[in-house]
Amino acid sequence: MPRSAPLLPTPLVPTALLLAGALALTACDGGVHGTPGGSGLRDPYFPKMGNGGYDVTHYALDLAYDPDANRLSGTATLTARATQDLTAFDLDLDGLDVEKVTVGGRAARWNRAGQELTVRPHDDLEEDRVFRVTVAYSGTPKTITDPDGSKEGWLETEDGAVALGEPTGSMAWFPGNHHPSDKASYDLTITVPKGLQAVSNGELTASRTSGGRTTTTWHTAEPMAGYLATLAIGDYDVHSSTTADGLPVYTAVDPAEAAASRKVLAQIPAVMKWAQDTFGPYPFSSTGAIVDRAGDAEYALETQNRPFFPGAPDTETLVHELAHQWYGDSVTPKTWRDMWLNEGFATYAEWLWDEDHGGDSAQKTFDALYDHGEDDYDDLWDFPPGKPSSAAHLSDSPVYQRGAMVLHKIRQRLGDTAFRALLRDWPTTHRHGNADTEDFTSYVEDLAPDEDFGPVWEQWLYGDGKPAQP
Ligand code: TRP
Ligand code: ZN
Repeated sequence: MPRSAPLLPTPLVPTALLLAGALALTACDGGVHGTPGGSGLRDPYFPKMGNGGYDVTHYALDLAYDPDANRLSGTATLTARATQDLTAFDLDLDGLDVEKVTVGGRAARWNRAGQELTVRPHDDLEEDRVFRVTVAYSGTPKTITDPDGSKEGWLETEDGAVALGEPTGSMAWFPGNHHPSDKASYDLTITVPKGLQAVSNGELTASRTSGGRTTTTWHTAEPMAGYLATLAIGDYDVHSSTTADGLPVYTAVDPAEAAASRKVLAQIPAVMKWAQDTFGPYPFSSTGAIVDRAGDAEYALETQNRPFFPGAPDTETLVHELAHQWYGDSVTPKTWRDMWLNEGFATYAEWLWDEDHGGDSAQKTFDALYDHGEDDYDDLWDFPPGKPSSAAHLSDSPVYQRGAMVLHKIRQRLGDTAFRALLRDWPTTHRHGNADTEDFTSYVEDLAPDEDFGPVWEQWLYGDGKPAQP
């Protein structure tokens, strides 16, 4: 590092840049020739999300929530491995007050600029070092408005709060490497006033009440992307049961939605059985659902193990979110550009559920969309699923319905038997991992080397406008 490089204290240089410059100057101190990790992973749609230079393997979140004050406080302990020599690294955290940061048990310097929490450990970190970071923080967590105008992050509800994280909301309630490409296991301990429940992903491992407060712990052993983490606090009717093959089912339902939810949630074992027959072995250790009131959030989300629904879902929505457990939660997109791999498959799951249960065939659903797409979904042909026009349109129908149409075009070329095998084998191949669109298209091509998939990719996956032929 050039020691002579000038530090420019001009007011025009943002603090983050100044700090990064200052950190780079001291990089040689410990004999490690490190540099700061990058402040973003250059995702094509959310370039600041995630950070460079390390990989998180575990999050331990030890939190308390006071619903009257809407105040969250606690400590996040991250276990991570350096992927380069590091003098500093960033975490994503939007809002909240940071009180203290340690790395390897020693107090660390830190600085904040926008969603970047830049941490300068006392000692530089060598590549491959496994290290532990703690961040003590508190405050009123933010509700984030997405580029598409929908609300996520921390949402106050009638009787508590719920945290929803797609695509960026997780940084509103815990610091982390908030990009789908960095998955980790989780342990969450949450303390709330006695009488309220606190529900998260994974399995409940302990709950105790004392001094007017209830502390509950949740364990998620399988890798989870940050956007799939959830925490729902409120008054819930809780039911624990098991499916016929012994999979634990945990549902938490707002009492106001209990009557409307009973029948549809009773379908969880049947949907899980069909989904396992269709998509292969379930990748997680428990299943279930969280149902809040209809006005508590604007959309359902495939939160890992336990999808979230604002209001009692219909069967289609339940099928959609449970299918995401394979497509999205276990096989997670490498970047947000690959989101059609989540939504196309989850939408196709709805079509197949109908086909397999005496409803319309997927072909009929496809045809109806192709013929009437202009009326029913006037934006269906706005952009291709493989290249969404902008972050504001990631949850539009080209990603969902046209994404499912791409899968149907693949089915037509492969035939039903090979396509059904693909539905099971793709999530097995990438179980608990990440995959992108090119991984998928080359996988499909390898299944049928004599078949020409060019037109499917060119017209349906990447082509502008409505393909000339259905
Ligand atoms: N993934 C959710 C679903 O289909 C929907 C959703 C919620 C979403 N938030 C989003 C999609 C943000 C894109 C962007 O079940
Ligand atoms: Zn979905």
